[in-house]
Amino acid sequence: MNILAIETSCDETAMAVVSADGGLNNPRFSILKNTISSQVKIHRPFGGVVPNLAKREHEKNLPIVFQKISKDKLKQQIDLLAVTVGPGLEIALWPGINFAKTLSQKRGKPLVGVNHLEGHLYSFLLSQKTGNSKFNSFPAIKVKSLFPAIALIVSGGHTILLKMNDLTRYRKLGETRDDASGEAFDKVARMLNLPYPGGPEIEKLAKLGDSQIIDFPRPMIYAKNYDFSFAGLKTSVLYYLRDKKMTDKLKADVAAGFQQAVVDVLTQKTSRAAEEFQAKTILLSGGVAANKKLKASLKRKARQLKLNFFSPVFRLNTDNAAMIAAAAYINHLKKNKKTTGRIVAKPNLSL
Ligand code: KG4
Ligand code: ZN
Repeated sequence: MNILAIETSCDETAMAVVSADGGLNNPRFSILKNTISSQVKIHRPFGGVVPNLAKREHEKNLPIVFQKISKDKLKQQIDLLAVTVGPGLEIALWPGINFAKTLSQKRGKPLVGVNHLEGHLYSFLLSQKTGNSKFNSFPAIKVKSLFPAIALIVSGGHTILLKMNDLTRYRKLGETRDDASGEAFDKVARMLNLPYPGGPEIEKLAKLGDSQIIDFPRPMIYAKNYDFSFAGLKTSVLYYLRDKKMTDKLKADVAAGFQQAVVDVLTQKTSRAAEEFQAKTILLSGGVAANKKLKASLKRKARQLKLNFFSPVFRLNTDNAAMIAAAAYINHLKKNKKTTGRIVAKPNLSL
């Protein structure tokens, strides 16, 4: 089946056409189109996403992106439409939902509402030819053999650890009690006068620094639960920078030290969960999963523990609509009433 998916939960207007088959036992996806119209340049001067501007840009971009997708001959029959219903900025979610509803009516095709976090969760199932990507995309093995699995979702709004018994049954083990990991990256970047979004900027700068020089705290790393907390780490960076002269060397060492602290906490807690629950696989997704240090650290740990490790290829870590199509397929097969019910914006939707 061919799925056209729309994602507008934050500052990317994204649309994709994905072909899916294989059912729940052997889901296979092929990305036919994957278009993202980024608003980063528009929000950058404000140091973060401005909701009203996001709405305006989505409304402007949706027909353009749709045109673009349809222009290179959208010959494939579309069987199912999918749209992100939450979590996200309510004002940004609606333009995507309204566009999808109109399309569904015009084409007489069913529409599924998708949880954005499930999009990230299932993004590991998408494989894409990326030339020399160092990291695995989904290989030709039976899905069943991957479970139980521990999934870490790290994004701008969420940091969640899940135990998956199979593809459709999962339970939350823990989540952040304050800032999400991506949010911490963005806030520390601002302290270092780096532009929004901060994650990629910190990663770039950290390469020039020494992660051993400043010993930032690793909050809750040995706590006997699977929750996270990044607000204290962010405050430590703030205190560290107080009264110091902001030299290039200092900035690079702070970026490297901060990044290492986040990577250590995420790696330690995820691998401990994998051991405790005798997982066969570690899954990593969400915008922060684009961070090469984090990816390499978890991959190394998984190898030590003799576990599978999957994370989507680089450009499918940050928000995109291909992952929404993948989650739509899984939900469509599962007939998930929770997400396929009334299609309205659900800004606080959880997993
Ligand atoms: O999943 P995503 O694209 O959007 C949300 O659902 O929130 O994640 C965006 C977050 C931002 O906080 C951004 O700074 C962070 O992911 N991010 C990174 C990197 N690339 C994006 N964080 C660390 N290192 C990166 N390379
Ligand atoms: Zn996201």
